[in-house]
Amino acid sequence: MARARGALIVLEGVDKAGKTTQCARLVHALQQSGRPAEMMRFPDRSTTIGQLISAYLEKKSDLEDHTVHLLFSANRWERVYHASNNRGCRPLMKKKLEEGITLVVDRYAFSGAAFTSAKPGFSLDWCMKPDVGLPKPDLVMFLQLSPAEAALRGQFGEERYETSAFQRAVQQQFEELRKDSTVNWQVIDASQSVDDVHKSISSHSLHTVSAAQSLPLGELWK
Ligand code: TMP
Repeated sequence: MARARGALIVLEGVDKAGKTTQCARLVHALQQSGRPAEMMRFPDRSTTIGQLISAYLEKKSDLEDHTVHLLFSANRWERVYHASNNRGCRPLMKKKLEEGITLVVDRYAFSGAAFTSAKPGFSLDWCMKPDVGLPKPDLVMFLQLSPAEAALRGQFGEERYETSAFQRAVQQQFEELRKDSTVNWQVIDASQSVDDVHKSISSHSLHTVSAAQSLPLGELWK
């Protein structure tokens, strides 16, 4: 009998919502309960493309807006499959899911579309196109935090996009994306305590991990 596949679970949200902490806690909790799980994050700054993106975010280099959008998308695609002549590297998303590993992903194509479409002159439709056909998440949890609550959590960092005005524009684009009923969105109130947010995320995830076992992996926005 074929092994049950792992689930693809994504955490999204604006900055300061606690995505990275919650991804790590979820992976730990799944592993503790005997469910194989690994964390991934986008951008994955470890690849050649990821390094170009990282330099851009750290404002060490400037890139044209369409160009950087496509690099963010390429950085996801390069983590989906093995390159055909790339022997011996670690298994990528598709293979891990097939092996029964649940992937908990810190940002995905939704950040890609929301951040670029918050820039002047970019439609959400154009921004979604390069990511059409990526493995479709079984669950996308949006950590909701108002700009006022985010401000209480301290100053933004130094990276590009870390300003309140831009984050508000990004939040609006996420709201548009959440209208798409082909994606399994769950909104999580990120103003709760870290423990309560974790409980809520765990309960949605456990349900998804069991449901995904008998469902084929879908293709995003197709
Ligand atoms: P990080 O702080 O989670 O590493 O994310 C880096 C920044 O990159 C964050 O401001 C969101 C932004 N971003 C995009 O603009 N497009 C994308 O596709 C992704 C994944 C992130």
